[in-house]
Amino acid sequence: MRKQDWWKSAVVYQIYPRSFQDSNGDGIGDIPGMISRLDYLEKLGIDVIWLSPLFRSPQDDNGYDISDYRDIDPMFGTLADMDELIARAGEHHIGIVMDMVLNHSSDEHPWFIEAKKSRDNPYHDYYIWVDGEEGKLPNDLKASFGGPAWEYVPELGQYYFHEFSVKQPDLNWENEKVRREIYDIINFWIDRGVAGFRFDVLELFGKQPLNRIIANGPKLHEYLDEMTAATFGGKNLITVGECWNADLERAKRYASPDGRELSMVFQFEHSFLDQGDRDDKWALAPLDFIGLKKVFAKWQTGLRGEGWNSLFWDNHDMPRIVSRWGNDQEYWKESAKMLAIVLHGMQGTPYVYEGEEIGMTNTDYPIEEYRDIELLHAYREKVEAGMAPEEMMRAIHARGRDNARTPMQWSDEVHAGFTSPEGQPWLKVNPNYCHINAASQVDDPDSIFSTYRKLIALRKEDSLFTEGDFTLLEEEDPDLFIYKRQLGERRLVVIANFHEVERHVPMQEWLTAGEVLVHNYADRQADTLRPYEAYMIRR
Ligand code: GLC
Ligand code: CA
Repeated sequence: MRKQDWWKSAVVYQIYPRSFQDSNGDGIGDIPGMISRLDYLEKLGIDVIWLSPLFRSPQDDNGYDISDYRDIDPMFGTLADMDELIARAGEHHIGIVMDMVLNHSSDEHPWFIEAKKSRDNPYHDYYIWVDGEEGKLPNDLKASFGGPAWEYVPELGQYYFHEFSVKQPDLNWENEKVRREIYDIINFWIDRGVAGFRFDVLELFGKQPLNRIIANGPKLHEYLDEMTAATFGGKNLITVGECWNADLERAKRYASPDGRELSMVFQFEHSFLDQGDRDDKWALAPLDFIGLKKVFAKWQTGLRGEGWNSLFWDNHDMPRIVSRWGNDQEYWKESAKMLAIVLHGMQGTPYVYEGEEIGMTNTDYPIEEYRDIELLHAYREKVEAGMAPEEMMRAIHARGRDNARTPMQWSDEVHAGFTSPEGQPWLKVNPNYCHINAASQVDDPDSIFSTYRKLIALRKEDSLFTEGDFTLLEEEDPDLFIYKRQLGERRLVVIANFHEVERHVPMQEWLTAGEVLVHNYADRQADTLRPYEAYMIRR
């Protein structure tokens, strides 16, 4: 039995199944591949694996379009392989979190195939339909992956709503039968022994597209409370919802300590701070660094005692953090470690995205090499609208989702050891695998991997990490990120230079009075912080 709220001292590792480890030479990662890497994950020290979806799927959005929630896509293995993974991971003290995509299904899900047959079909109401005429859209809502959010089905004389691609029709949460089906699915996976769930775009569940309400519909929390009670409530699992629009007040409701809803949410406020336009991820802007510190401080203090934070830089939808806010060239190692130190000293549950622990970087491929539906749609749309292709490519190199999805770099062997030498990886391996790879880092005490490993171990040894309160210092400093955690008499201080400048900082006092837990340079200087230099000190 796991202890109550065990996930507060846990560290989660996210696997993107197609990119982690291929075992059969078809160029696509799979479950047997994951099983073969459990030793590596145990060495890193993580407690939980969050698996991006590996359910049966036509793969229009790499598995975020599910056609059978109770089966595994043959590309990844079988249900028996999945049971084996759950069992084997358990032997390594690792729990499995499934990624539940319940806002929409695939258009190839049997429910949708039935729903499309006639208005009287018992599954018709499983989706969101509006009567209409061809060419006269119900309103001007746009889909996230391009084009209108409404698709016409001439045989029915109706439009269906899809927030994402046309192959991802939205489920009708207002239909109680749909909700019951969904709860059965969640219980199916609880019975198979998973440790928890990540809920894809959970804040969209109560949408009313005709009223132009997409996120945070009026019945959202009614549904979430109902879902919790009918499934994981009281079962001591880890649950996290993806909530792009969460503010502090909403997060307190989602993650309230009474366990009515979730353990925590992913909120994204920090990830908008280098975006020129809140609604356009391709609008590049320099990072508002002081804003970044304030956003973290707001969430750290705001949720204290009234919720729980998730801590993350990267995921399968984000660019690589070392390329984004570090320097992936001259200061690659220093800046990757600095970013880890800053994040892992905070209160919350840290998430490490595959390859982040070895400092994997963004890509700069030509458009033909990319595979992501969002990126390819956006390229077409922007260029048709008159944007210069080179300018859009700059944005894609900085923000495209395929930056995070390139195969895991295991070694300096051909294809980075991701697939067999004859295999063709489904997405081009980042050519820098020759010097950025796991094999060269696992046993090197000075590696990025070793820094992550140390940070993960510390969180489990010392309650200062999980319980200490948080104070941001030197709020307005343009380069330094300094904060303090305190628990009784004990203190943890993180002092980080976020930029490529040298700064005079009287470190002497800190260094003599405290114990340096983690540092990212070989030697110490009493009065200077070098580019990206960072200390974690306990006293
Ligand atoms: C979430 C996922 C993303 C997916 C989308 C649609 O944002 O993280 O990868 O494309 O939902 O399911
Ligand atoms: Ca494979």
